[in-house]
Amino acid sequence: MTKKILVTGGAGYIGSHTCVELLNSGYEVVVVDNLYNANEKSLEVVKKITGKDLTFYKADIRDEKKIDEIFKKEKNIFGVIHFAGLKAVGESCQIPLTYYDNNISGTLVLCEVMKKNNCKNIIFSSSATVYGDPHTVPIKEDFPLSATNPYGRTKLMLEQILGDVYTADKEWNIVLLRYFNPIGAHECGDMGEDPNGIPNNLLPYISQVAVGKLEKVNVFGNDYDTHDGTGVRDYIHVVDLAKGHVLALKKLAANSGLSVYNLGTGKGYSVLDVIKNMSIAVGRELPYVITERRSGDIATCYADASRAKEELGWQAEYDISRMCEDSWRWQSKHPDGYKE
Ligand code: NAD
Ligand code: WQD
Repeated sequence: MTKKILVTGGAGYIGSHTCVELLNSGYEVVVVDNLYNANEKSLEVVKKITGKDLTFYKADIRDEKKIDEIFKKEKNIFGVIHFAGLKAVGESCQIPLTYYDNNISGTLVLCEVMKKNNCKNIIFSSSATVYGDPHTVPIKEDFPLSATNPYGRTKLMLEQILGDVYTADKEWNIVLLRYFNPIGAHECGDMGEDPNGIPNNLLPYISQVAVGKLEKVNVFGNDYDTHDGTGVRDYIHVVDLAKGHVLALKKLAANSGLSVYNLGTGKGYSVLDVIKNMSIAVGRELPYVITERRSGDIATCYADASRAKEELGWQAEYDISRMCEDSWRWQSKHPDGYKE
C-alpha cells in the first residue's frame, strides 16, 4: 500500500522540493500550510514537475480542531514531515512571542493530534543553529548544543520536547534533521526560494543583486579567522536536502526510535567563494562591498555528515557551482518569485 505522508509547511521552500521527491518515490502527499510565508503556486509546480496529484489544506498547525479533522478525513497518515515554522533570526528577536507561539505551540498541537490519531512517526526540521558557536569543525551530532536567539531557541526546545515525547512513549519514531545552509532550486527553474521583502540570507540576496533588484552584496565582515576573512558555511542543495527526508522516512518505517542527523555537504565555502561561484553562473562579476560584521554571526560552520551516510545511505550530490546555477535559473526566470 502506498504510504500517506502529511507535510506541514509543504508549500514553502524546502517543503515544496520535498513534496516532489516524495511523489517521485511513490508516496501519497497531504500538505498543510497556512501560506503565511508561501504561495500556493509552488504546489501547482510540484504537480506539474511530477505529473502527480497531492492534497492541500490551507490550515494553521495551531488549529487543533482543523488538524484533527484532517487526520480523521485522511485516515491512514503514516507519518508527518514537519517543516511549518517561522525561520527569520532577526525577526525572531523583534517578535519572540510570535515565534514561540508559532513554532513551539504549533508543534505541541501537532504532536497532540498525532498521538490522538495514533500516528507517532515524525521528521522534524531542525537546524545547524542548535550548535551555537562550535568549538571546532566539522560539527558532529554529539557536539554541545546552545542557542543565541529566539528562533534558535525554538529549534533547541523542540528537539528537547520531542526527546521527552520519545522517552515517555517508545512507540514514537522521531528523526531530527539538522540542516546546514540550504540553497539552490529545482532544475526546472520554476520552483525555488521566494522570500518576502529584502532577503536576510546570502544566496537570495546575491540572486537579487544579479537580477538587478538590489545594487550590491554587503559582505558582513572580512576579518574572521577563515581562508579569506569572510564567513564560511556549509551550503547544501535543497534537492539533496529533500532526498534526505525520503531516506529518513525509510528509517522511521524500520521503528528507529529517536535519531538525529546533520544534513550538509561537509564542505565550507566563504561569502567571497559564493559570490565568485554565482558570478560564474550569472556570467558577469557581481558587485560587492565589505561592511561591518553582522551581530550574532559565527566565523565557520560545516557538518560532519558521516552519520547520515552510514545510517540513512544519504550523501549530498550537488556541488556549489550546481547550487549557484540552479539558484540563478530560478531567479532569472522568475525575478518576482511566485508573485508575478
Ligand atoms: P519556509 O518559510 O519557506 O517554509 C515554512 C512553511 O511553513 C511556509 O510555507 C509557511 O507558510 C508555513 N507555516 C509557518 N507557520 C505555519 C503554521 N503555524 N501553520 C501552517 N503552516 C505554517 O521555510 P523553509 O526554508 O522551507 O524552512 C522549512 C523548515 O526548515 C522550517 O522549520 C525552518 O525553520 C527549517 N530550517 C530552514 C533553514 C533554511 O535556511 N531555509 C535552515 C534550517 C532549518
Ligand atoms: C551566510 C553567510 C553571513 C547575508 C541562517 C540562520 C540559520 C539557518 C540558515 C534556519 C554568513 C554572510 C549574509 C548578506 C553576508 N536558518 N552574509 N551578506 O547566518 O549562516 O544561517 O540561515 O535555521 O539558523 O542563522 O545564513 O545566509 O544569513 O549567511 O555577508 O547579505 O553570509 O555573515 O557568513 P546563516 P546566511
